[in-house]
Amino acid sequence: MQPFFEIEKKTESKARAGVISTSHGQIQTPIFMPVGTVASVKTVHQHELKEDIKAEIILGNTYHLYLRPGMEVMQNAGGLHQFMKWDLPILTDSGGYQVFSLSDSRKMTEEGVKFKSHIDGSFHFISPEKSMEIQRQIGADIFMAFDECTPYPCEYNQAKTSMELTHRWLKRCISWCGENPELYGHKQHLFPIVQGSVYSDLRKISAEVISEADAIGNAIGGLSVGEPEEEMYRITDIVTDILPVAKPRYLMGVGTPWNILESIGLGIDMMDCVMPTRNARNAMLFTWNGVMNMKNEKWKNDFSDLDEFGTSFVDREYSKAYVRHLFIAKEYLAKQIASIHNLAFYLDLVKTARQHIVAGDFYEWKDSVTPALRQRL
Ligand code: GUN
Repeated sequence: MQPFFEIEKKTESKARAGVISTSHGQIQTPIFMPVGTVASVKTVHQHELKEDIKAEIILGNTYHLYLRPGMEVMQNAGGLHQFMKWDLPILTDSGGYQVFSLSDSRKMTEEGVKFKSHIDGSFHFISPEKSMEIQRQIGADIFMAFDECTPYPCEYNQAKTSMELTHRWLKRCISWCGENPELYGHKQHLFPIVQGSVYSDLRKISAEVISEADAIGNAIGGLSVGEPEEEMYRITDIVTDILPVAKPRYLMGVGTPWNILESIGLGIDMMDCVMPTRNARNAMLFTWNGVMNMKNEKWKNDFSDLDEFGTSFVDREYSKAYVRHLFIAKEYLAKQIASIHNLAFYLDLVKTARQHIVAGDFYEWKDSVTPALRQRL
């Protein structure tokens, strides 16, 4: 049997190229994971995701899927892969983060979180055990421990208390998984999450506790929540110095194209973010030359390809002027084209990063492309 994670190439510094093997196929790392919160990557067909964008794994969300369509439908469908007809790997987030960011009313105790649904105002309760049960029913290949994501800024004592709660919840997640088998005949792997806000000592403690749990892969949470970029890199660096080298590391909720390259340079293997799809719907396109605002007047008569270096069919099929027109006219197709473009760009970004890791010139390459990526066009 194939190991869950194999490092193909390690640089002299921290970046590495690897392969994750799941029951639904292999993932070449570093990888970006498109977010499909409610069993759909917004505006993008599964066919396009797989064939054009070349996504290798997507994300689903416990909180959203539990509220709608609910676990009865999910189990009757035979799990999320079957339900949404996506036969490649899926990762689910555990719900804690979404409860904190979406529910306008929530009460946290040692036992778990009671919250009010953002859909119909009904009350629900998610505990570590409940989160594990829901993620079993969803049938994700990789699923996340139930944690608390601290906001930014966060007082030291609050960050410490919260981190300790996340560690106690992790023990309960692991116990539950030990006692409850998988439902659909494929392997499901639990990743614990490092917390500790921007405090170096807390992050070190958390990274050690998480490493000791000896899970098959590990995640870093509580970043990209409003802290300066340099703080995010500093904390990521501290944590990846401690997390085991031989296991994949997932940086949750990150980020811009330049954040992605910096994180890869710090030893991160997996990332996800709503940015390529959410910003696409707001007419923002990421390219190797910089960030384009597609509503800008300057594209009005620009009939050149949407993106001359783009890898997706939309990049050569449509012109900048046409896509601008669609945004101005508020056509749904604008959002669709922009989302396909941005996701294909993110997947191309990590694939190219991987090629440079393998070639041995990743850091020079990263520094040479970053200024252009950040430009506003
Ligand atoms: N997504 C982005 N950040 C986080 C985090 O800290 N925890 C969880 N569960 N999901 C996240």
